Amino acid sequence: MTATHTTDSPLISGEPRIPHDPAALQRDLKSHLLFNFTDMKRFETEEMPVFVRGEGCYVEDVHGRRFIDGLSGLFCTNLGHSYGDEIGQAALAQMRELVYTPTWTVAHPTAIELATRIASKAPEGMDHVFFTNSGSEAVESAWKLARQWHQANGQDRRKAIARRYAYHGTTMGALSFTGYASARAPFEPLAVPTHHVAHTGSYRHPLAGDEAAFCQWLLDDLEAALEFEGPETIAMLIAEPVQNSGGSYMPPAGYWQGLREICDKYGILLVADEVINGFGRVGDWFASLRFDAAPDMITFAKGVTAGHAPLGGVIVRDRVAEPFVTGRAMFAHGNTWSGHPLSTAIGLSVLDIIERDGVIENVRANEPQIGALLEDMRDLPFVGDVRGCGHFWALEVVKDKATAEPFSQDEANWMLRDALSGQMAARGLLCRLDDRDQPVIQLSPPLIADMDTIGTMLGIVRDALIHVDGQVRNGEAPWA
Ligand SMILES: Cc1ncc(COP(=O)(O)O)c(C=O)c1O
Repeated sequence: MTATHTTDSPLISGEPRIPHDPAALQRDLKSHLLFNFTDMKRFETEEMPVFVRGEGCYVEDVHGRRFIDGLSGLFCTNLGHSYGDEIGQAALAQMRELVYTPTWTVAHPTAIELATRIASKAPEGMDHVFFTNSGSEAVESAWKLARQWHQANGQDRRKAIARRYAYHGTTMGALSFTGYASARAPFEPLAVPTHHVAHTGSYRHPLAGDEAAFCQWLLDDLEAALEFEGPETIAMLIAEPVQNSGGSYMPPAGYWQGLREICDKYGILLVADEVINGFGRVGDWFASLRFDAAPDMITFAKGVTAGHAPLGGVIVRDRVAEPFVTGRAMFAHGNTWSGHPLSTAIGLSVLDIIERDGVIENVRANEPQIGALLEDMRDLPFVGDVRGCGHFWALEVVKDKATAEPFSQDEANWMLRDALSGQMAARGLLCRLDDRDQPVIQLSPPLIADMDTIGTMLGIVRDALIHVDGQVRNGEAPWA
C-alpha cells in the first residue's frame, strides 16, 4: 500500500466502533501471526495491510483508507460488508437455541433445513448434502465418497484426473488435485495419484477460433490420459466449470456434456468444484446449472455463507449417495464441526438474502455490461485477453499484444508485484494479480455490486495500466 491513496470512493459512514493502534498491530502481527501463502520477508520493510471494517462493496484499512473489495475477499464476501447485523441476528438466535450438536448419528434442524434448501437449488437428482468446514475439506470428502462408492460397487479405484493450474485446496488429498508445482512440490509425494490434463484456456491455442474443434481437442486429451493411466483405475475427475487459477477459463460449449459422456463410458465419477463458482458467482445458483453440466458431486464453500462463517460441503447425486443411504456402506469420514449450528444458521440467512434481494438477478443483469466494458479494455496497453462471466472476470496481461508474447517470470514479477499492485492499491482497489499460469488481473466484485461500483473498479484498472505503460516507456521496466 502507498500513502498516495487517491480514490474518490464514498466514505464508510462514521468512525470505527473498535479503536486500533496501527503500530501495535504491525508489531504484533510480525511477532505472532503466521500467514497463508505470504512472502513474509517483504513485510520486514513494508507495512502489511490491515483491514478493520467494511461497508457495502468497500473495506477500510487501519489508516482509514478505503478500497473496493474487488475480489470479494477471497471470492467469498458475495453480499459485501453490510449484512452483518441481519446475519448476526440469525447467528444469535441459533446460539440462544442450540449451541452445538454433531451430525454423527444425531442431527439438528438447522443443518437439516440448509441441506434441504441447498438440494432444492442444485441440479435435478442431487439431493444429498455432506457438510464440511472449508473448500479443501469439501474436495477431500468428495474424494473419499468416490473411493467408497467404487468400493461399495466392488471396485478399488485409486487415481484421479484433475486439470493443470487448477486450485482445489491444500489438504493432502485436495492438494493432489491442485495442478501447479509451487503448492505441490514441498509436500510430494501426495496422497492421491493424479493425472493433470489441459484446462479450457484457449488464448494462444491453435484451435482458439473454432470452439467445437477446441472442445474436441480437450476431450481427446482427456481420453488419451485415461488410456495412459487405465480408465478402470480412475475413481473421479474433478474440474471447476469456470477455472479460477489462470484467470476465469470458460468451458467451450459441449465440454461438460463431453466430460459426462466420457465419465459414463468408463464408470468415473464427475466432480464439479464450485467452491468459487457456486451460490451466484457465475450468475446462477451453480455453474453446473448454467453450463448444463450433470456432475455426480458438487463441492461448495465460500459463497454459502458469503464469508460470514466457515462452511463447505459436497452435494451428492442420488445414485452416488445410494450405498451410504441404504446402508450398503458407511461413509468412514467426518468432522466435529460438520453442519455446525452457527454456520448452517448463517448459511440459511445468506440464502434468504440472496433470494429476497435478487442477488443472482443482479449478477445476470450486470454480466453483459461488464463484458462490454472489458471488451473495450482490449485497446489498453498489455491487455491480451479478457474472459469470464457473471461477477468472475480476468484480464490476461502480455508483453506484446500483437503476438501475444508472454512476460518472462522476472518480467511478470515486476509487472504484477512492483508496478500494477501498488497502482491498484494507491487508487483504492483490492483485486488479485496472479501468475500461477500466465499473468492475469482477476476481478470478482461482491455479487451485490452495482454498475457504478464496477465502473469505478474498471476505471482504476484502466488508469493503473496506462500509468504502468508510462513507466515502461520511461525505461523503468526491467526489459526496457
Ligand atoms: C476451486 C477451489 N476449490 C477448493 C478450494 C479450497 O477452499 P478452502 O480455502 O476453503 O479450503 C478453493 C479455495 O480457494 C478453491 O478456489
